[in-house]
Parts: sequence; structure tokens; C-alpha cells
Amino acid sequence: MTKPEAAAKAGRESPEASVRPGAELRRRYTTADLGVFTRDEAIRFVPRGDGDPQDDMVLAWELLYRLEPELYDRLARAERLHPRVVGWLPCGVNRIAEVGAGTGRLTMELIERGQHIVAVEPALPLRRILRRKLAAAEDGDRVRVVSGFFDQLPLTDGSADLVVACSAFTPAPEHGGEAGLAEMERVCRPGGCVAIIWPNHLDWLAERGYRYVSFPGSMSIEFDSYHEAVELVEIFYPQAADEVRRRGRRAVPFELLRINPPRDVAFKVLSA
Ligand SMILES: C[S@@+](CC[C@H](N)C(=O)[O-])C[C@H]1O[C@@H](n2cnc3c(N)ncnc32)[C@H](O)[C@@H]1O
Repeated sequence: MTKPEAAAKAGRESPEASVRPGAELRRRYTTADLGVFTRDEAIRFVPRGDGDPQDDMVLAWELLYRLEPELYDRLARAERLHPRVVGWLPCGVNRIAEVGAGTGRLTMELIERGQHIVAVEPALPLRRILRRKLAAAEDGDRVRVVSGFFDQLPLTDGSADLVVACSAFTPAPEHGGEAGLAEMERVCRPGGCVAIIWPNHLDWLAERGYRYVSFPGSMSIEFDSYHEAVELVEIFYPQAADEVRRRGRRAVPFELLRINPPRDVAFKVLSA
């Protein structure tokens, strides 16, 4: 989606999309579920303590990660990145830091590109899934999975050649914001690269010196089966469910969902 997270996900919706997007997802959770957040998570995601996921899609996504992480992982596995996005990232570097790693859509690709990778992810259930995948992967032990947030990265100054976030960073403070971008740049060494994959809010990033690259070609969400396509589209993209049923296919073109595909990167090479 023109990425994660609720705000990001909301940003991916076209103007024609429903006025209150994400109704199906929001319906899954209630205020009673907010107790799942740790103290540090609550400070960021319900700072006034009075959020309602039925009204707030960003909050509903955060609850999804914690209450139904396998459901989220099924969606992320189907929403594959454009292969040229991964190919564009620096290769053969020593140290990579990824923030908001989730269940590893990008992390698993980074194993081939760096010697030492740190995957920062705040949601414990997602970290568990990521660790499970890494344990089964060749060279998965190159990746260290740690808890942390954009605005307070548990990493030292200049400790990475590449600092990257995929479908996770937005200008909203709870998903990065000014403090989060400053933290990513702090952790990146001089001459290194900070990359935001599947960015939202390109103008906001451009104002902060980020350039942009996008790769062409049609892209689809590749569900495992037609039945999975219907099940997940009904939850995450209900506006397209009738059309997905009519087509009867497991692959769902991004155009049909009216969101931009994961084909682009905003990046900054820090001065040496
Ligand atoms: C849509 S998921 C993307 C996960 C993964 N990067 C991918 O592409 O599949 C957004 C991720 O950002 C993480 N996230 C949300 N707020 C965050 C924050 N303040 N700091 C770091 N990560 C955050 C979420 O826990 C979630 O894993």
C-alpha cells in the first residue's frame, strides 16, 4: 500500500475510495483491545489513552499486528515488492539497519545484501514470526531482531551503511515523523544511504532532501489461491471484493484496489 500503517494505508487510498476507509478492519477491534499495547507502544499509539480502533484505522492496523499477526503476514507475503526495488538497494555492504521490519517482507531480502543486519520492530508478535522465518533461512543468523521505535532507535550513531524502512515510515510522529527521520539519519554513517521503500507523502520527504525512484511494470497482489484472495480482499480492500469474485483469479492487480504498488523508493545519500 502507498505503505503501512494506517496513516500510510489511508494515504494509499484514492480520492474515490470510501470516505471512511478500512471499515472491515476497524470493525475487528474495540477499545477493550487497547490493553494489548505495552507502555511504550501506548505512549505512541494512544498518547491520550482514549483511542478507538473502530474510528481510527491507524490504530486498527497496530492492533492487527499484535492480535492477528499471522493474518497480517498472509497479506504482506502476497504484497510482494517490485524486484527492482530490492535490486536497487546497495549490495555487499557491511551493516544494514531496517526499521519497522514486521514479519520480514524486506528483511529476508536484505540477508543477501549485507553482512550484519539489525531488524528493529516494536510489535512482539511480528518479531516472533520474523525470528521463525530467519531460523529457517540460510544465513538467517546474519539478522539480529530487536525491539525499538523510529523515534528512539536502539542503535549507535553512524552504525549502518544502509538504514531502510519498508511500508512503515510516515510523517506522523507515531510512525516516524521528524524525530524518526532524524534517528534514521543519525544511525546512518556519513556517505551511507537512508531509504524509505513504498513511501507516502513524497513532498514531505522531498522537502527534507529525499530523492525518488520508481520502477515500471504492472503489479498484482499474489495471493496463494482465489479463496485467499477473496478472504483477504474482503478484510483489507472490501471496495474491490465484488470485482475480485467476478474475475475468479488469485492475482489481484493493484490498479483494481486503487492503491499504488510497492514499486518506489525515497532515498537520501548522507554527505560524507
Ligand atoms: C505495514 S507494516 C510493514 C512491515 C514490513 N516492513 C513489511 O514491509 O512487511 C508496518 C510496520 O511498522 C511497524 N511500526 C509501527 N510504528 C512503528 C514505530 N513507531 N517505530 C518502528 N516501527 C513501527 C509496525 O509494527 C509494522 O511492523
